[in-house]
Amino acid sequence: MNRKPHTGSARTERSAAKTPTKVVLQVLAGGVIEPPPIWLMRQAGRYLPEYRALRESAGSFLEFCLTPELAVEASLQPIRRYGFDAAILFSDILVVPHALGQAVWFEAGQGPRLQAVDSSADVDRLSGEGQRARLRPVYAAIEELRRRLPAETALIGFAGAPWTVATYMLEGGSSRRFAVAKHWMEERPREFARLMDLLVDSTLDHLSAQVEAGAEVLQIFDTWAGALSADARRRWSLAPLREMVRWLKAAHPDVPVILFPRGAGDVYLDFASSGADALSLDPTVSLHWARAELQTRLALQGNLDPRTLAAGGPRLDEEIQHILDAFDRGPFIFNLGHGILPETPLEHVARLVRLVRQRRD
Ligand code: CP3
Repeated sequence: MNRKPHTGSARTERSAAKTPTKVVLQVLAGGVIEPPPIWLMRQAGRYLPEYRALRESAGSFLEFCLTPELAVEASLQPIRRYGFDAAILFSDILVVPHALGQAVWFEAGQGPRLQAVDSSADVDRLSGEGQRARLRPVYAAIEELRRRLPAETALIGFAGAPWTVATYMLEGGSSRRFAVAKHWMEERPREFARLMDLLVDSTLDHLSAQVEAGAEVLQIFDTWAGALSADARRRWSLAPLREMVRWLKAAHPDVPVILFPRGAGDVYLDFASSGADALSLDPTVSLHWARAELQTRLALQGNLDPRTLAAGGPRLDEEIQHILDAFDRGPFIFNLGHGILPETPLEHVARLVRLVRQRRD
């Protein structure tokens, strides 16, 4: 395999079923790549000074996401600085409720706010009809990114999973206990199911439009999967995601899908047979268990604790080594176990990239 790495280090391909040219795509097709490709969840974000400057020049966060030039620039920033093997579209999971007609805004220091959906009539008012038009700037950003990204960099499109997005829609923002969302799930099951069905459809349309615009990989974030009981997790995280993967595979057979059911615990095992091409592991997942039970069935991504990266020091080096040692015999993409923290020093990210790429057998 003749491929130009970002750094001086040579990569060797030991076994790959198919051989696409981008290393991230090779791993997602089942290839074992040494050293493994690397990108970081939330790599476009506030830990970068150039992001903070760009953010200040933009209006609201939603306008930022829906202005193609700005979204393209934010997506390219981490690639320029660190040469990650994949770029993730700069956007947010909450553009979907926005496109469905719900009011969404971001308050500085407070995170996302939404006009909470709190009745059956509110669910009725949501409509996917204008979605493609409203999200057109997202798809335009993807088209432009495909023109501007280095030839070796894969482009990842994404969306939130229905359960995670529903929590924001029902709670009106971030939550710790998910009391409202769980109340709907348990006490208003038909209305909850109706909202979830709507989210499955609109999310599939959003993901499909991203592929049509040029996204080469899709990642679905179920950030709050771990807030559900194991039974509810199978019903409201696993089941809709399995259905979505099946639909995506029929519509776009060549586009790999990564699932991130954060906090799924042993339900990760069920996700391994969901039809997804890869699972993104959170930091609580045991490396040995994941290697034996999951990596034998699909590619893995993860799972350095973002706090360890922010803290740095010898523990950072050790943890990186443990992860590489655990997963280097199977298909693997190095990543964090959740999004990078805004306080993360730039040098720690540089060190991580260097250590992963320096690796030899
Ligand atoms: O670099 C990337 O990963 C691409 C962009 C991206 C953002 N959000 C930009 C963003 C992605 C993939 C997301 C996903 C997202 N958004 C998730 C799932 C992944 C996860 O981290 O759990 C969730 C739950 C959201 C919802 C959301 N958006 C929250 C809770 C917040 C506030 C908390 C925070 O991190 O600031 C946001 C805002 C947001 N989305 C920012 C960024 C860069 C920060 C806003 C700012 O710059 O002011």
